Amino acid sequence: MEPISRRRFLALAGSASAGVVLASCGRGGPRAQAVGPGGAEVLRVEQARRRPGAAVVDLALAAAPLTVDLAGLTAGTWAYNEAVPGPEVRVRAGDVLRARFRNQLPEPATVHWHGIALRNDMDGAAGVTQEPVPAGGEFLYEFTVPDPGTYWFHPHVGLQLDRGLYAPLIVEDPAEPGGYDREVTVVLDDWADGVGPTPEESFAELRAGQGAHAQHGAGGGPTSAALGGPGGDVTYPLFLMNGRPPAAAPVFDARPGERLRLRLVNAAADTPFRVALGDHRLTVTHTDGFPVVPVTVDTVVIGMSERYDVLVTVAGEGTFPLVAVAEGKGNQAVGLIRSGPAPAAPPAEPSRLAELGGRLLGLGDLQAADAVDLGPGQPDRDYRVVLGGGDEGYRWTINGRAGLDGDPLSVREGERVRLSFENRTTMFHPMHLHGHTFQVARPDGRPGPRKDSVIVLPDQRLVIDVVADNPGQWVLHCHNVFHMEGGMETTMSYLR
Ligand code: C2O
Ligand code: CU
Repeated sequence: MEPISRRRFLALAGSASAGVVLASCGRGGPRAQAVGPGGAEVLRVEQARRRPGAAVVDLALAAAPLTVDLAGLTAGTWAYNEAVPGPEVRVRAGDVLRARFRNQLPEPATVHWHGIALRNDMDGAAGVTQEPVPAGGEFLYEFTVPDPGTYWFHPHVGLQLDRGLYAPLIVEDPAEPGGYDREVTVVLDDWADGVGPTPEESFAELRAGQGAHAQHGAGGGPTSAALGGPGGDVTYPLFLMNGRPPAAAPVFDARPGERLRLRLVNAAADTPFRVALGDHRLTVTHTDGFPVVPVTVDTVVIGMSERYDVLVTVAGEGTFPLVAVAEGKGNQAVGLIRSGPAPAAPPAEPSRLAELGGRLLGLGDLQAADAVDLGPGQPDRDYRVVLGGGDEGYRWTINGRAGLDGDPLSVREGERVRLSFENRTTMFHPMHLHGHTFQVARPDGRPGPRKDSVIVLPDQRLVIDVVADNPGQWVLHCHNVFHMEGGMETTMSYLR
């Protein structure tokens, strides 16, 4: 796969001005050319985003090996700026983020700004939008950040995301309607670094058919009713909240009666989380950065790479467990919201909260806020996106092809594109499209949520619409990093 995708990147990179004739691509019609990552269209759209006098936010970002302390357990990992998660980056919508990335890892890496509708050549998709930054190398990422919301960043090379390389990116809204007193960013992760197999060892085991997937394929292994199958393929010794295991749970201070905005980010490689707060309900206001009509539930399941912003009103004085159970796996990450005097002894790990079995947010509960509703419309293109594989050799496919050597989904700027996912596998897949925020179709015809990652359940057909307004070459993939590495990825390719 690697040499072919590299060839494809080099072809497109060379097409910056001239364009490449896609001889084999019938869909674009004769003489269609792919818009390269640095193509004139990309620069035009970036220019239109950039406001005169926009603030520039500078960030020095280094990826390097690090030793972390996990409640007394010492573990080696890779991290950004010597912390797990990496530094929380905050910009305002309309700002320019200028990140000087230094790669101090022993292998090539990139930074991908997950969910941001940015210029294609800054997207960090190795082999598609840029050559990976070599060990010891540097790269300057500079782009306008158009939309407010909760985002994050991570590498886009191999299985690197499964290490400690992730951090939240919060884009503040200059016209923030408010409605809350305090913000808390909550980043969830599944963890094996330094205490279990390396990501490469886990992947090799899956490929050899010895892993969890082989077990659940044979009817073993736990399943999740909410996901219609197993929660993941890999067994992790630990689950972390803001880089901490339950034995060193993070404490978030608050005052009784305050409204908190929890920005929940799932940075795990292979684990969905079911989140609840003891003695509280959650009012969901945003998903993947974009606003929804608020809906109040007891618990939400967050797929890998998804974000949910929820409001809670602190019930009174006390210490309330914020629990993220690894859905279909069992163990959990824990934090504490503390609005009273510190307890004499740290509270024991909470037992199963009643809220976890309460009303669960469903995709069908989410409706886009008016301001971000794409509105009704007939698609200019309609693609089936069949998700398959997972059997022999842990090969995962889109439309029967594994990896980026398959046919891309060709689009043209300005089109409304419909993607109909059909999941023919026995697992859920959090499907993510780079550079765009699509709209999920609801069977009842109401406007579904805008998202950049959406869970597609086994045997489910799920339809999304996307307005093709950000030219370039954009990866579409499953955000289970092992599925992606196993081939469940393609590109949405703009033609001119
Ligand atoms: Cu979170 Cu392809 O990315
Ligand atoms: Cu998947």
